[in-house]
Amino acid sequence: MANKLTIGVLSSGGDAPGMNAAIRAVVRTALSNNIDVLGINNGYEGLINGDFHSMNERSVGGILQRGGTILLTSRSKRFMEPSGQRDAIRKMNEAGINALVVIGGEGSMNGAYALSQKDIKVIGIPGSIDNDIWGTNIAIGTDTAMNTIMEAVDKLRDTASSHQRAFLIETMGRNSGYLAVMAGIVCGAEVVLIPEVPTTTDEIAAAVEDAYKRGKTHAIIINAEGSGIRTTDLATRIDDLDVGFKTRMTILGHIQRGGSPTAYDRLLASRMGVKAVEALLEGQHGVMTGLKSKGIDFIPLLDVISNKRKVNMEYYHMTKVLAR
Ligand code: F6P
Repeated sequence: MANKLTIGVLSSGGDAPGMNAAIRAVVRTALSNNIDVLGINNGYEGLINGDFHSMNERSVGGILQRGGTILLTSRSKRFMEPSGQRDAIRKMNEAGINALVVIGGEGSMNGAYALSQKDIKVIGIPGSIDNDIWGTNIAIGTDTAMNTIMEAVDKLRDTASSHQRAFLIETMGRNSGYLAVMAGIVCGAEVVLIPEVPTTTDEIAAAVEDAYKRGKTHAIIINAEGSGIRTTDLATRIDDLDVGFKTRMTILGHIQRGGSPTAYDRLLASRMGVKAVEALLEGQHGVMTGLKSKGIDFIPLLDVISNKRKVNMEYYHMTKVLAR
C-alpha cells in the first residue's frame, strides 16, 4: 500500500496578499482528503531548522482576509546551498513530510525545483506582487498590489493637479515593469518608466514639458523600481530643467505588499490551493499551479524557472496613447 501523504506547506520570499487564503485552501483540502498537514514556519529557513507544527481546520480560521502570511516568510541564503537543501530534506524525513507545497515567487520556485530534483514531491503556488513568474497569467497578490497602487496614485493626482505639479511615483516590481505598466493604464500616467525600455532623463523631461504645454494640470510619472533611474535623482533633475511643472515624489515601497487581499486574489489563491493538493493526490508533482485561459493548469517547475516572463509591450504602448 502506498504511504499515507503528509504535506508540508510553507510560504517563501516576499509576502503577498492572498498567501493566507492559499494556506487555508491547502490545509482544508488536505484534511478533507484525510491527509495530515504540517505548517513550516519562516519559509525554507524553517524547513532547514525543522520548525514545523501540525495544522488543523481551526489553525487556518479567520485568515482568508488577512494580508501577509501566518506561516511567516524569509529569503533563505542557506537553502540556496546544496548543504541547506540536504539538511532540509533530513528534517522533512524525520517529521514524515513526504510532499511539500511552496507558495512564493521566482526564487521560491527555484528552491522548489531543486527539491524536486532530489526526489521530493513538490507543488509550487505562485505568490508575488511583481507578477514576474513565468507560467501563470497572474500570481497571487498582484491584483491587491495593483489596487493599492491605484488608490495611492488617485490620491496623489488630487494634490498634483491642485498644485499643477509633476508627481513621480515609484512602484515595486524588482526587475519587472509589470506593476508600473498596469498602473500607468489604470491610473492614467503621463510617463511610465520600466526596466524593459531604457529611457533617458532628457526624454522624460521632454514628455513632462509636452504635457505641460498641452494644458495638462499635472503629470504623473510612474517609475518602476528596476528602471535604472533613481526616483529622487529624477525629481531633482526635472526641477532643474524647468519643464513647467514643479515636481514632488513618493516612493510607495512596502505599502504595496500589505493589506487585505482583493476578492480576485482570495479566489485565485483558494483555487490554486485546492488544485495543488488535488495534483498531489493524483500523483502529480514537480509542477506549479498556473492560471491559464482554460483554468488552473500545472506547469513543470523546470519550465517556470527556465523562462522569463515578459511585460506585454502592447500595454506599454497603450500607456503612451492614453496619455495624450
Ligand atoms: O518580490 C517582491 C518585492 O516586493 C519586490 O517588488 C521588491 O524588489 C522586493 O520584494 C523587496 O524585498 P524586501 O522586502 O526584502 O526588501
